[in-house]
Amino acid sequence: MQFSASFRRYFATRAPQCSPFRFTQPPNPSWQLGQGAHKEFLEKSGDVPKKTWIMNETNPKDTYKLLTTCIVPRPIAFVSTLATDGTPNLAPFSYFSMVSHNPPLLSISFSLSPRRPKDTRENILNTKQFTVNIISEEFAEAANITSVESPASNDEWKLSGLTMEPSTEVKPAMVKESHISMECELNFAHDVTDLTTSQITNTLVLGLIKRVHVRESVLNEDGSQVNPTALNPLARLGGLSYATLGDGFDIARPSWKAVREEIKGKDQ
Ligand SMILES: Cc1cc2nc3c(=O)[nH]c(=O)nc-3n(C[C@H](O)[C@H](O)[C@H](O)COP(=O)(O)O)c2cc1C
Repeated sequence: MQFSASFRRYFATRAPQCSPFRFTQPPNPSWQLGQGAHKEFLEKSGDVPKKTWIMNETNPKDTYKLLTTCIVPRPIAFVSTLATDGTPNLAPFSYFSMVSHNPPLLSISFSLSPRRPKDTRENILNTKQFTVNIISEEFAEAANITSVESPASNDEWKLSGLTMEPSTEVKPAMVKESHISMECELNFAHDVTDLTTSQITNTLVLGLIKRVHVRESVLNEDGSQVNPTALNPLARLGGLSYATLGDGFDIARPSWKAVREEIKGKDQ
């Protein structure tokens, strides 16, 4: 695939393959056991009252607006499937997470509009196969167009201009432009129902990851992990908003032995 010169320049500045992820200091490096939140943060927001929603008194539209802005940022599964007649389908889904690494499982949840079930859901339930591809900022618009609510016969790949790459373990293609693609088999499906009407509102799907493909240019030096700067993944916020990664910081995982010693020291 050919990238234009301007895109290559842009890409070179945004995804410098050799530059590591930018790590900053944690927000409070001198934090002590039991210290709680930062003082300035508490002064600013600690006593601001909280508005409360009682969820069984909140209509689904408002619940959607609220929760999709509360649970952020969400990663996005860019899902490629095939209909039973072989029609390819591509669409993004942000009700998406890692479930376990042993076995390697991911989850995606499909909302069911009474008007039209999502083609991706139908295809996964029928064929039991799909690929999950990771979207980078550099092709956000091409990925976004595939969310168009169109008839099952429409091939979103054509609208996007993205490229199919053959998979190894499953029939649906991978997205060649994606730095990461995961070939998946349906492991489990569960319909979620409205608590009063019992109508199906969502279907939760677990996918068993059979094979992961990662572009070598986004791998770290020993090839075992992905460099987030080079990956430059797109995330979903509420409404129409997307986000990209900012800086990161490390905080050591607490060891009970060290914490216990510190508590003992304080008690004496
Ligand atoms: C970034 C993004 C995230 C989305 N996440 C979801 C989701 O998690 N669940 C869902 O049902 N629809 C989600 N949608 C909407 C679907 O992508 C949209 O309904 C699409 O038309 C489904 O395509 P399909 O019918 O070909 O499967 C999302 C749309 C966008 C743009």
